[in-house]
Amino acid sequence: MKKAVFTLSLITGDPIVDGQHRHLFSKINALVDANDKETALKTLDFLIDYTGYHFATEEQAMQAAQYPRYTEHKKIHDDLVVSVKNLRNVLETEGPTDNFMDMLDKQVTEWLYGHIKGDDQAFAEYKNIRSNQCGC
Ligand SMILES: [Fe+2]
Ligand SMILES: [Fe+2]
Repeated sequence: MKKAVFTLSLITGDPIVDGQHRHLFSKINALVDANDKETALKTLDFLIDYTGYHFATEEQAMQAAQYPRYTEHKKIHDDLVVSVKNLRNVLETEGPTDNFMDMLDKQVTEWLYGHIKGDDQAFAEYKNIRSNQCGC
């Protein structure tokens, strides 16, 4: 099954956020490696928890920076949480099948690539510009 690969193009420049993204990828890969339903469910639950923790970190930083696109970015996070919960239902029903792994790849891994390169890097850029302007 396809693994999630963290590349330099995903760097935001924020060491905490980048570290969390790397950690998310390693959790996805642990799930890709899960052979049985019980292990896969446990691993997906870790991934769900860690995703919530990561999104909260970003959302707090966006609020602290009074980021104008906060609501939009948060909505994108919320949508992902819903789709991961749906994925959990699929896993409950059919176990770690090829179909489940395909869904994981498209709905989580590919989603993350797009979200990090788009929304997360846009916020990082906003923060950099802002801190250069005010010197804080
Ligand atoms: Fe992120
Ligand atoms: Fe984000």
